[in-house]
Amino acid sequence: MDILKKIEMYRQDEEKLKWEGTFREYLEIVKEQPWVAQSAHSRVYNMIKDAGIENDKSKKRYSFFNSQLFGLEEALERLVEEYFHPAAKRLDVRKRILLLMGPVSGGKSTLVTMLKRGLEAYSHTDRGAIYAIKGCPMHEDPLHMIPHHLRKDFYDEYGIRIEGNLSPLNMMRLEQEYGGRIEDVIVERIFFSEDKRTGIGTFSPSDPKSQDIADLTGSIDFSTIAEYGSESDPRAYRFDGELNKANRGMMEFQEMLKCDEKFLWHLLSLTQEGNFKAGRFALISADELIVAHTNETEYRSFISNKKNEALHSRIIVMPIPYNLKVSEEEKIYDKMIRESDVNDVHIAPHTLRVAAMFTILTRLKDPKKGDIDLIKKMRLYDGESVEGYNRADVEELKKEHQDEGMSGIDPRYVINRISSTIIRKEVKTINALDVLRSLKEGLDQHPSITAETRERYLNYISIARKEYDDIAKKEVQKAFVYSYEESAKTLMDNYLDNVEAYCNKAKMRDQLTGEEINPDEKLMRSIEEQIGISENAKKAFREEILIRISAYARKGKRFDYNSHDRLREAIQKKLFADLKDVVKITTSTKTPDETQLKKINNVVARLIDEHGYNSTSANELLRYVGSLLNR
Ligand SMILES: Nc1ncnc2c1ncn2[C@@H]1O[C@H](COP(=O)(O)OP(=O)(O)OP(=O)(O)O)[C@@H](O)[C@H]1O
Ligand SMILES: [Mg+2]
Repeated sequence: MDILKKIEMYRQDEEKLKWEGTFREYLEIVKEQPWVAQSAHSRVYNMIKDAGIENDKSKKRYSFFNSQLFGLEEALERLVEEYFHPAAKRLDVRKRILLLMGPVSGGKSTLVTMLKRGLEAYSHTDRGAIYAIKGCPMHEDPLHMIPHHLRKDFYDEYGIRIEGNLSPLNMMRLEQEYGGRIEDVIVERIFFSEDKRTGIGTFSPSDPKSQDIADLTGSIDFSTIAEYGSESDPRAYRFDGELNKANRGMMEFQEMLKCDEKFLWHLLSLTQEGNFKAGRFALISADELIVAHTNETEYRSFISNKKNEALHSRIIVMPIPYNLKVSEEEKIYDKMIRESDVNDVHIAPHTLRVAAMFTILTRLKDPKKGDIDLIKKMRLYDGESVEGYNRADVEELKKEHQDEGMSGIDPRYVINRISSTIIRKEVKTINALDVLRSLKEGLDQHPSITAETRERYLNYISIARKEYDDIAKKEVQKAFVYSYEESAKTLMDNYLDNVEAYCNKAKMRDQLTGEEINPDEKLMRSIEEQIGISENAKKAFREEILIRISAYARKGKRFDYNSHDRLREAIQKKLFADLKDVVKITTSTKTPDETQLKKINNVVARLIDEHGYNSTSANELLRYVGSLLNR
C-alpha cells in the first residue's frame, strides 16, 4: 500500500475514535467504562498489564517491554511490582518521583520512550481511552467539576474517587461560558501525543541562569493582561509549561539531579500533594507520572549533599542494571545494528555472540563460592546447563553481589567498535575475529578505564577468543559431515543398543550374519572416553543412561540426541575426533587435489546454505580453523 493511503487511513481511524459531548453524556460513558476516569499511574499500569504477563516459575514477565528491552526482566518486574502496581492502587509510592538509576547506555531512555509511545498508542484503544474538558490547555479531568461536598455521593454511586480541584481557568469558564451548569460543559476524548503536547512531556534543564520556572509551570501572557485587566485573571496565564502539558499522562525529567533546586521543589509539591503553584492562583491540581533517570555516581553525590535530604525521601529509586545474559546481549546488538546505517553488512554467525561474551564478562563479578569460574557463571546466567549446578545455585550466585550489572562495558561502545570495523574493512563482511581485534584496540583508546581494568578486559577478550575457537572448530567439523544430525543420531542409537545389552548382560545380533555377538566394548569406551569416564565409572554411567531412558518412556517422551547433555557431548566429540584428520588436511592444504577441492566446495556450500555464512565469511572460517588445527 502506498504511504499516502496509509496516512489517510490513519486519519480516518482517528476521526472515528473522536468523541465530543456534554458532561451529562460523559457521565454515561463513565458509568459503562469506569476506567476512563482512572488516574495517570493506573493507566500506565494497565497499559503494561494489558500487553500481557507471562508467568515463568513464579516470576512475572511483562510482554510490554519485550520488543525493545532485552534481559532486564527482573528489573522490570521489580519496577512494575514495586512502583507501577502500588501507585495504580493509589498507595503512597505514587507520590514520589520515579528515578531510574543505572549505568550508561543501559536502556533507561529506551524504557522511558517505550512508556511514552506506549501511552500514545494506548490512548487510542478502548481500555486506554481518556476524556478531558474541551478547550482546556491542561486537558483537565472533567470529574474535577463535581463539587467537593458531593464527591462522597459520587463515590457511592460510581465507585470512583475524585482527587484534585477544578483549575482557576475552568472555574472561570464554567461560570462565564456555561452559567455554572456543569452538565452542559463540553467534554472530548483526547489522544496522548508528545508532538502535539498532549499528556506527554519532556523537560530538560538548560543553562541554570537563564532557565525559567515557566518552562515547567507556564507563565503570564503579558500581551493579554491589558485585555483581561489583571495578572490574576487566569485567562492572562499560559498553561503551557511541561507540567501543564503532561497532565493526565507522564513527564520525563531529563538530568533531574543536575537541575536547580527551585525546580525540584515544584516537582516535590506536585508529586506529594498532587498540585503545584503557578502565577497568582490557588494551587493547580495535576495528575501525572514523573520519571527521571540518572547514573550511580551522580545519584550518590546527590544524596550525599545534606541540602537534598528532604528530596531524597520523596524519590523512589529503581535500579536499571545492564543485562547479564549473553543471548540477550546478542539481541541488543542485533537490534542496534538493524536500526543503524550499517544494516546491510554481512555479519558472520557467532560474531555478535562472541562480542556479547566479552561484554557480559566485564559486567560479572567474581563468584565468591570456591569452585565456580566466571565462564561457568556466564553460562549459568544465560540458562545453559553446567554440570554440577542447578537453578538454585544460579539464584545463590545472583544474591552474592547486589550491585552486579552496574558497571562494565556498555552496548553502545560495542556497537561503535563494530561500526568502525565495518567502515575500515571495506568488504561488507565481518567476523568475530575482526570484532575482537577492534574491541581490543578500542581498549587502548578508552578514556575512562584504569590500567588494571584494561588488563582484566584484555583477559576477557582472550577468553572470548578461546570460546570462539571452539565454536569455529565445531562449526567446520559439523559442515564436514554430510548430515551431522543424522550421523550423530546413528552413532547414538548404536551406542544405546550396546549399552542396553551390556546392562542386561544380553547378547546382540550381528546385522549381517545374524550371529550372536557380545556388546561392542571398544565402541562404547571410545565414546565414553571423550568425556573422561573412567573404566571404573563406566558401569554407573551406562546404568544412569538406561534409567533416564525409562524415565522418559514413562512420561511418554522420546529420548533423543538432545536429552542427555553429557552423552550428546560425548557423541559430538567422538564424531569430531574421527573427522579431525580429514578436516585438518583439507583445510590447511595450499594446493588441494581434486577430491579435496570438491570437499571444500561442499563444505563452503553447506556453511552458506545451512549455517548462515556468505562465501567470504565461510572461506575465512575455513582458513582460520585450518590454522587452528595445525598449531
Ligand atoms: N537491555 C537492553 N535491551 C535492549 N536495548 C538496550 C538495552 N540496554 C541498552 N540498549 C540499547 O543501547 C542503546 C542505549 O540505551 P539508552 O539510550 O536507552 O540508555 P540510557 O540508559 O538512557 O543511557 P545514558 O545513561 O547514556 O542516557 C539504545 O540503542 C538501547 O536500545
Ligand atoms: Mg539516556
